[in-house]
Amino acid sequence: MEKQATWTHFYQWPLKYFAAVTFWNLVGAGLLGFLINTPIALYYMQGLNTTAAHGHGAMFGVYGMLGIGLMLFCLRGMAVNYQWNDRWMNWAFWSLNAGLALMIVIALLPAGLWQTYNANVYGYWFVRSAEFIHSPFMESMVWSRVVGDVLFTFGALVLCVAMVGVYRAIRAEK
Ligand code: HEM
Repeated sequence: MEKQATWTHFYQWPLKYFAAVTFWNLVGAGLLGFLINTPIALYYMQGLNTTAAHGHGAMFGVYGMLGIGLMLFCLRGMAVNYQWNDRWMNWAFWSLNAGLALMIVIALLPAGLWQTYNANVYGYWFVRSAEFIHSPFMESMVWSRVVGDVLFTFGALVLCVAMVGVYRAIRAEK
């Protein structure tokens, strides 16, 4: 679909972020939202790391990506002759998305599901206690978050650097 018309290439980066919005709407908001939504689920899972997994996937995944996409759409129109640095844009796009996915898949979700299991076995109070939160598994989940977070930060920085070029082009085109 991306290659159907020439104008789609002109807007390829905003469109890619809009595609990411659809993905995170499905996974972050839909899948992870419904996972914690039913009354019986909330009885055992309210405010655990499963909520953080949903919160990040839905909030950044949907509205963060949408914000970036809209920003790029506006900038594209402000510097029509500028050749975007596709390599950097690619790195930024995939680092942001993969970083967010890793943050959820290898840290927040396993931590939340482990809390949920223990809430069923020992009670909700136990999985919110300092003893549980600082248990070796939960602490290892905090450290494993670093992987996704670093990749995500890298993506944000690369996007900022790429935007310097766009900013210069806008000033030159004025
Ligand atoms: C783009 C849409 C959505 C966004 C931006 C979003 C964002 C969030 C955020 C940031 C939180 C955490 C709030 C907190 O920690 O106090 C949250 C909680 C929650 N969300 Fe969503 N959400 C979205 C869609 C959905 C959907 C579709 C469902 C269910 C079908 C859902 C169900 C829930 C529930 C049940 C909680 C509370 C969980 C708890 O108290 O532990 N959300 N949402």
